[in-house]
Amino acid sequence: MSTLSTHILEEIRELPAKYPQPRSAVMPALDLAQEELGYLTPEAMSEVAAALELDPGYVEGVATFYSLFHLTPTGRHHFYLCTNLSCMLRGADEIVEHVKRSIRVKEPDEVSADGLFSYEEVECLGACEYAPMMRFDRRFHYELTPGKIDALISETKGQGLRPPAPVEVASQDMQGVRPPARRGGRRGAPGGTPPATRTSEAGASEAGRPHPAPSAPTSPASGEVNNPRAPRKKKKKASDG
Ligand code: FES
Repeated sequence: MSTLSTHILEEIRELPAKYPQPRSAVMPALDLAQEELGYLTPEAMSEVAAALELDPGYVEGVATFYSLFHLTPTGRHHFYLCTNLSCMLRGADEIVEHVKRSIRVKEPDEVSADGLFSYEEVECLGACEYAPMMRFDRRFHYELTPGKIDALISETKGQGLRPPAPVEVASQDMQGVRPPARRGGRRGAPGGTPPATRTSEAGASEAGRPHPAPSAPTSPASGEVNNPRAPRKKKKKASDG
Protein backbone atom coordinates (compact mmCIF):
# COMPACT_ATOMS: atom_id res chain seq x y z
CA MET A 1 0.00 0.00 0.00
CA SER A 2 1.35 3.41 -0.89
CA THR A 3 1.95 6.17 1.63
CA LEU A 4 0.53 8.88 -0.60
CA SER A 5 -3.09 8.82 -1.65
CA THR A 6 -4.04 7.91 -5.19
CA HIS A 7 -5.24 11.38 -6.09
CA ILE A 8 -2.02 13.00 -4.84
CA LEU A 9 0.05 10.56 -6.89
CA GLU A 10 -2.08 11.36 -9.92
CA GLU A 11 -1.52 15.08 -9.38
CA ILE A 12 2.21 14.46 -9.08
CA ARG A 13 2.30 12.47 -12.33
CA GLU A 14 0.65 15.38 -14.14
CA LEU A 15 3.19 17.94 -12.93
CA PRO A 16 6.14 17.32 -15.32
CA ALA A 17 4.04 18.36 -18.34
CA LYS A 18 3.81 21.85 -16.85
CA TYR A 19 7.55 22.48 -16.88
CA PRO A 20 10.14 22.80 -19.68
CA GLN A 21 12.37 20.49 -17.65
CA PRO A 22 10.31 17.62 -16.21
CA ARG A 23 12.58 17.32 -13.20
CA SER A 24 11.52 20.84 -12.17
CA ALA A 25 8.32 19.22 -10.95
CA VAL A 26 10.15 17.74 -8.01
CA MET A 27 9.57 20.68 -5.65
CA PRO A 28 5.82 21.09 -6.21
CA ALA A 29 5.56 17.31 -6.01
CA LEU A 30 7.32 17.25 -2.64
CA ASP A 31 5.07 20.12 -1.56
CA LEU A 32 2.02 18.03 -2.35
CA ALA A 33 3.41 15.05 -0.50
CA GLN A 34 4.28 17.14 2.55
CA GLU A 35 0.90 18.81 2.53
CA GLU A 36 -0.76 15.43 2.72
CA LEU A 37 1.48 13.82 5.34
CA GLY A 38 2.73 16.82 7.31
CA TYR A 39 6.35 15.84 6.60
CA LEU A 40 8.33 13.79 4.12
CA THR A 41 8.93 10.18 5.01
CA PRO A 42 11.48 8.06 3.08
CA GLU A 43 8.55 6.13 1.59
CA ALA A 44 6.86 9.33 0.42
CA MET A 45 10.09 10.52 -1.23
CA SER A 46 10.45 7.16 -2.99
CA GLU A 47 6.88 7.37 -4.24
CA VAL A 48 7.46 10.91 -5.52
CA ALA A 49 10.59 9.71 -7.33
CA ALA A 50 8.70 6.80 -8.89
CA ALA A 51 5.79 9.01 -9.94
CA LEU A 52 8.14 11.49 -11.60
CA GLU A 53 10.45 8.79 -12.94
CA LEU A 54 13.40 10.43 -11.23
CA ASP A 55 16.37 9.05 -9.35
CA PRO A 56 15.35 8.64 -5.68
CA GLY A 57 18.70 10.15 -4.64
CA TYR A 58 17.91 13.34 -6.56
CA VAL A 59 14.50 13.66 -4.89
CA GLU A 60 16.01 13.07 -1.47
CA GLY A 61 18.75 15.61 -2.24
CA VAL A 62 16.16 18.29 -3.00
CA ALA A 63 14.09 17.41 0.07
CA THR A 64 17.09 17.65 2.38
CA PHE A 65 18.46 20.85 0.79
CA TYR A 66 15.47 23.13 1.34
CA SER A 67 14.30 24.12 4.79
CA LEU A 68 10.72 24.20 3.56
CA PHE A 69 10.71 20.45 3.49
CA HIS A 70 10.57 18.63 6.79
CA LEU A 71 11.82 15.13 7.35
CA THR A 72 10.39 14.85 10.86
CA PRO A 73 7.00 15.90 12.22
CA THR A 74 6.63 19.61 12.97
CA GLY A 75 3.96 21.71 14.60
CA ARG A 76 0.96 22.59 12.52
CA HIS A 77 2.41 26.11 12.25
CA HIS A 78 6.13 26.57 11.82
CA PHE A 79 8.37 29.57 12.47
CA TYR A 80 11.35 30.00 10.11
CA LEU A 81 13.43 32.51 12.04
CA CYS A 82 16.21 34.21 10.14
CA THR A 83 19.30 34.57 12.31
CA ASN A 84 21.69 35.61 9.60
CA LEU A 85 23.83 38.74 9.88
CA SER A 86 21.34 41.57 9.29
CA CYS A 87 18.66 39.95 11.38
CA MET A 88 21.14 39.02 14.09
CA LEU A 89 22.36 42.63 14.30
CA ARG A 90 18.78 43.77 14.71
CA GLY A 91 17.76 41.43 17.49
CA ALA A 92 17.05 38.04 15.91
CA ASP A 93 18.45 36.23 18.95
CA GLU A 94 15.95 37.97 21.18
CA ILE A 95 13.16 37.01 18.77
CA VAL A 96 14.26 33.38 18.81
CA GLU A 97 14.29 33.32 22.61
CA HIS A 98 10.87 34.96 22.71
CA VAL A 99 9.41 32.40 20.32
CA LYS A 100 10.90 29.55 22.34
CA ARG A 101 9.45 30.93 25.57
CA SER A 102 6.09 31.65 24.01
CA ILE A 103 5.53 28.23 22.48
CA ARG A 104 7.35 26.50 25.34
CA VAL A 105 9.94 24.53 23.46
CA LYS A 106 13.67 24.28 24.04
CA GLU A 107 15.02 23.00 20.73
CA PRO A 108 14.50 23.63 17.02
CA ASP A 109 11.84 21.33 15.57
CA GLU A 110 10.53 20.42 19.01
CA VAL A 111 6.74 20.53 18.80
CA SER A 112 4.76 22.50 21.37
CA ALA A 113 2.58 20.50 23.76
CA ASP A 114 -0.59 21.48 21.90
CA GLY A 115 0.92 20.33 18.61
CA LEU A 116 0.43 23.77 17.10
CA PHE A 117 3.91 25.26 16.89
CA SER A 118 7.54 24.52 16.17
CA TYR A 119 10.44 26.64 14.98
CA GLU A 120 13.79 26.50 13.28
CA GLU A 121 16.53 29.00 12.55
CA VAL A 122 17.26 29.57 8.89
CA GLU A 123 19.76 31.43 6.76
CA CYS A 124 19.03 34.75 5.03
CA LEU A 125 15.53 34.86 3.54
CA GLY A 126 16.40 37.77 1.25
CA ALA A 127 14.57 40.54 3.10
CA CYS A 128 17.48 41.91 5.10
CA GLU A 129 16.27 45.51 4.93
CA TYR A 130 13.27 44.51 7.03
CA ALA A 131 15.29 42.72 9.69
CA PRO A 132 14.61 41.05 11.94
CA MET A 133 12.21 39.00 9.89
CA MET A 134 10.85 35.49 9.59
CA ARG A 135 8.58 33.26 7.62
CA PHE A 136 5.63 31.85 9.49
CA ASP A 137 4.05 29.03 7.53
CA ARG A 138 3.93 30.61 4.06
CA ARG A 139 4.06 34.30 4.94
CA PHE A 140 6.93 36.67 5.58
CA HIS A 141 6.74 38.93 8.62
CA TYR A 142 8.96 41.96 8.88
CA GLU A 143 10.61 44.15 11.54
CA LEU A 144 9.67 41.71 14.26
CA THR A 145 9.13 42.60 17.86
CA PRO A 146 8.08 40.38 20.77
CA GLY A 147 4.68 42.06 20.58
CA LYS A 148 4.23 41.05 16.93
CA ILE A 149 5.15 37.48 17.80
CA ASP A 150 2.62 37.46 20.66
CA ALA A 151 -0.12 38.81 18.40
CA LEU A 152 0.65 36.23 15.74
CA ILE A 153 0.55 33.37 18.22
CA SER A 154 -2.71 34.62 19.74
CA GLU A 155 -4.31 34.99 16.34
CA THR A 156 -3.17 31.55 15.27
CA LYS A 157 -4.53 29.95 18.42
CA GLY A 158 -7.77 31.83 17.85
CA GLN A 159 -8.06 30.19 14.46
CA GLY A 160 -8.14 26.80 16.19
CA LEU A 161 -6.79 23.95 14.11
CA ARG A 162 -7.42 25.43 10.73
CA PRO A 163 -4.61 24.56 8.32
CA PRO A 164 -2.08 27.23 7.32
CA ALA A 165 -2.93 29.67 4.55
CA PRO A 166 -2.50 28.39 1.00
CA VAL A 167 0.61 29.05 -1.05
CA GLU A 168 -0.84 31.92 -3.08
CA VAL A 169 -1.29 34.17 -0.06
CA ALA A 170 0.54 37.48 -0.29
CA SER A 171 2.95 38.38 2.45
CA GLN A 172 1.59 40.71 5.10
CA ASP A 173 2.44 41.21 8.69
CA MET A 174 0.08 40.55 11.55
CA GLN A 175 -1.28 44.03 11.85
CA GLY A 176 -2.92 43.63 8.49
CA VAL A 177 -0.88 46.35 6.85
CA ARG A 178 1.13 45.97 3.69
CA PRO A 179 4.77 45.02 4.00
CA PRO A 180 7.06 48.02 4.42
CA ALA A 181 7.78 50.02 1.28
CA ARG A 182 10.96 49.07 -0.48
CA ARG A 183 13.84 51.19 0.65
CA GLY A 184 16.12 50.63 -2.27
CA GLY A 185 18.37 47.77 -3.15
CA ARG A 186 17.38 44.52 -4.72
CA ARG A 187 15.04 42.44 -2.68
CA GLY A 188 15.23 38.83 -3.60
CA ALA A 189 14.29 35.61 -1.94
CA PRO A 190 16.95 32.96 -1.99
CA GLY A 191 16.27 30.12 -4.29
CA GLY A 192 19.31 27.97 -4.65
CA THR A 193 20.09 25.25 -7.06
CA PRO A 194 19.23 21.84 -5.77
CA PRO A 195 21.97 19.29 -5.89
CA ALA A 196 22.15 17.17 -9.02
CA THR A 197 22.54 14.13 -6.84
CA ARG A 198 23.47 13.60 -3.27
CA THR A 199 26.81 12.14 -4.28
CA SER A 200 27.92 15.00 -6.51
CA GLU A 201 27.16 17.52 -3.80
CA ALA A 202 29.20 15.90 -1.07
CA GLY A 203 31.96 18.13 0.22
CA ALA A 204 30.75 21.17 -1.72
CA SER A 205 30.35 23.30 1.35
CA GLU A 206 29.40 23.25 4.99
CA ALA A 207 26.87 20.50 5.60
CA GLY A 208 27.34 19.55 1.95
CA ARG A 209 25.16 22.41 0.76
CA PRO A 210 26.28 25.09 -1.68
CA HIS A 211 25.27 28.66 -0.89
CA PRO A 212 22.16 29.44 -2.92
CA ALA A 213 22.34 31.70 -5.95
CA PRO A 214 19.91 34.64 -5.99
CA SER A 215 16.61 33.92 -7.67
CA ALA A 216 13.89 36.12 -9.11
CA PRO A 217 13.05 39.02 -6.79
CA THR A 218 9.85 39.17 -4.82
CA SER A 219 7.20 41.58 -5.95
CA PRO A 220 7.81 44.85 -4.08
CA ALA A 221 4.17 45.84 -4.44
CA SER A 222 2.62 42.80 -2.87
CA GLY A 223 5.51 41.29 -0.96
CA GLU A 224 4.49 38.00 -2.51
CA VAL A 225 7.11 35.35 -2.13
CA ASN A 226 8.23 33.89 -5.41
CA ASN A 227 10.50 31.35 -3.88
CA PRO A 228 10.46 31.29 -0.14
CA ARG A 229 12.87 28.45 0.29
CA ALA A 230 16.12 28.85 2.10
CA PRO A 231 18.95 26.52 2.94
CA ARG A 232 18.59 24.66 6.17
CA LYS A 233 20.57 26.17 8.98
CA LYS A 234 22.88 23.97 10.93
CA LYS A 235 21.15 23.26 14.19
CA LYS A 236 22.78 24.43 17.36
CA LYS A 237 23.58 21.80 19.91
CA ALA A 238 22.10 22.32 23.34
CA SER A 239 25.65 22.35 24.70
CA ASP A 240 26.50 25.40 22.49
CA GLY A 241 24.17 27.42 24.66
S1 FES B 1 19.78 38.39 7.18
FE1 FES B 1 17.71 37.99 7.69
S2 FES B 1 16.68 38.29 5.81
FE2 FES B 1 18.74 38.58 5.29
